Amino acid sequence: MSNTKKIAGDCPSLGDDPKCRHNHLHTQGEGVRTFPQPILVTRPLLPPIPAITRRMEDIWGAQWLTNMGKQHGILEAALTQHLRVPHLSLLCNGTIALLVAGKVLDMQGEVITTPFTFAATPHAVNWTGAEPVFADIDPVTLTLDPKAVEAAITPRTTTILAVHVFGMPCDVHALAHLAAKHNLRLLYDGAHAFGLEVEHTGIGNFGDITAYSFHATKLFHTAEGGALACGSAEMHTRIERCKNFNILSEETVGGVGINGKLNELQAAVGLAVLEIMDDERERRARIAAIYREVLGQVPGVTVQPVLPQVTRESLQYFSIRIHEQEYGLSRNALHAELKKHNVLTRKYFYPLCSTFECYKKLPSSRPENLPVATRVAAECMALPFYGALPDEDATTIASMIRDMPR
Ligand SMILES: Cc1ncc(COP(=O)(O)O)c(C=O)c1O
Repeated sequence: MSNTKKIAGDCPSLGDDPKCRHNHLHTQGEGVRTFPQPILVTRPLLPPIPAITRRMEDIWGAQWLTNMGKQHGILEAALTQHLRVPHLSLLCNGTIALLVAGKVLDMQGEVITTPFTFAATPHAVNWTGAEPVFADIDPVTLTLDPKAVEAAITPRTTTILAVHVFGMPCDVHALAHLAAKHNLRLLYDGAHAFGLEVEHTGIGNFGDITAYSFHATKLFHTAEGGALACGSAEMHTRIERCKNFNILSEETVGGVGINGKLNELQAAVGLAVLEIMDDERERRARIAAIYREVLGQVPGVTVQPVLPQVTRESLQYFSIRIHEQEYGLSRNALHAELKKHNVLTRKYFYPLCSTFECYKKLPSSRPENLPVATRVAAECMALPFYGALPDEDATTIASMIRDMPR
């Protein structure tokens, strides 16, 4: 792997001094090189501390810590504009956002969803009292295959819960058509889709409701947080009430609600993160370009595509697929090899949600029902992807994958 050797311009050791503290490649035995410190799959975007303290002083001055305060209001307005959606409600995390969406949509009976997602997606269905029904995914977009969705519809189906996985948009037109044809609610889990635009339209404009996650691992974050976007003012009012215990006035509770509020400290973090988002997006676009350039031509490696309908990428994840026969190593073997060289990738989304103890007995969880998802879960991995990753490291990681002995 001699061509993965990286030399830091200002380091006299040329990377071969074990005491060197630069995080660049060092010789290990027979010319195999490795990063001295682990390269994590992601790192939280941390705004400069003064951008936080300035807002903390504001919060302390106002003596208002939560319950839709000033920072909350500013952030909600800023994000409504940034995401280009008609209505937006901030929530305390993405999972509670999904639960609130499920409640206001009266999600009951069967909910058709994807197994190729984070655990929160089917868990939200289960928590609202409905039953997840897993349908297979499209082999290119890795999102719900509309044909599989249609085949899974029964008289008990009330809702489609589709995920824009890795920021790749679902087939929003086909799913809208299905929802209208069968009178179903259409909820999108947009946890990976912050900033994504399809045909110059913010992704939160599609379906009845779109849920976002602002977890620390996301591109835009509030440490923990989330939001719901919707098109109707009436739905927005229901969400606002539901996230605040469904309290209508001092003496009236309008129904069952929950505490889903995002507090002032979270909002302050979000406002500071928003200020540095453009730079972070630029850095990530550069890293994605490096990965695409080095890995685009490697036999047996498929890089995450930019779909033609995407007019603004989300840039939250960078995934690749490893086709064992053609590449010569399995995804699991590559994951383990990279780990030995201190490159920590994630086997996203493996195992499939349909294989979890709590869901594996569902009829829809049978692997025969989910052939594409089952294959993709064994092939897919997320690469380190965050703005602070130097270009040289991105080049090195991609070169390691290209040149891995096999
Ligand atoms: C697809 C998906 N849905 C939902 C969530 C839940 O979001 P949160 O962690 O903010 O609760 C996540 C979290 O990472 C996710 O990846």
